[in-house]
Amino acid sequence: MPQKISPRKIKIDQQDIPFSEGQSIMEAAEQAGVYIPHLCHKAGYKAHGSCRLCTVKASGRWVSACTEPAEVGLQVENNSSELQSQRRAIVQLLFAEGNHHCPFCEKSGNCQLQAVAYSLDMHDAHFAHQFPHRTLDASHPEVLLDRDRCIQCELCVRASKEHDKKNVFALSGRGPHTQLIVNSESGKLKDSEIEKDDEAIKVCPTGALMNRSKPFSVPIGQRQFDNIPIDQQSTGKSGNNEAQP
Ligand code: FES
Repeated sequence: MPQKISPRKIKIDQQDIPFSEGQSIMEAAEQAGVYIPHLCHKAGYKAHGSCRLCTVKASGRWVSACTEPAEVGLQVENNSSELQSQRRAIVQLLFAEGNHHCPFCEKSGNCQLQAVAYSLDMHDAHFAHQFPHRTLDASHPEVLLDRDRCIQCELCVRASKEHDKKNVFALSGRGPHTQLIVNSESGKLKDSEIEKDDEAIKVCPTGALMNRSKPFSVPIGQRQFDNIPIDQQSTGKSGNNEAQP
């Protein structure tokens, strides 16, 4: 009689979470509908491990859930006040480092950075705003690149390369001088291969890359995160438009 193989499991906040060989903690959590805050991770993309928002404590070690493989017996702490406060500080730093003006941003209500800030109970940026000088590329009739809103998660870089097969974007520079650059002779979007329906535009978690051809097509109040907080939306399945957590 064939032996029944019991599923491999980790524990996240005391809850048994099954996983398959090769899955990360994040993938196992998403499959089970457990939310771990994240910005640079997206299902279907290689883990990047850059934003560190998904940091969890796994059997006593700090690890990023999107890059750490799930292993039998791993005890993961995710929703503790210590972790939530560290994550809040990471998001506050992102707001202080960039020029994010939510009330004026077309992505408001669909923006993962804004939604994560709300879910982490962030009330202010806490750190001094740096007001970096960043340029805007409005050269393309249908696509806008606003570097003020870019959090350098490289999702557009990966999407353009792996999904759109175009390689339109890259990050260039170091530290505070890092910025998203466009692969074209002029360095402008208008001379690149970008098109408004490219995955690279849809995957942007903030308003850094926007399709200009349908502004405000979903009214404020009816957007993805307007009524249901990001942490209460079942991972990867919710939403009423392009922005998916
Ligand atoms: Fe894991 Fe960004 S989501 S490091």
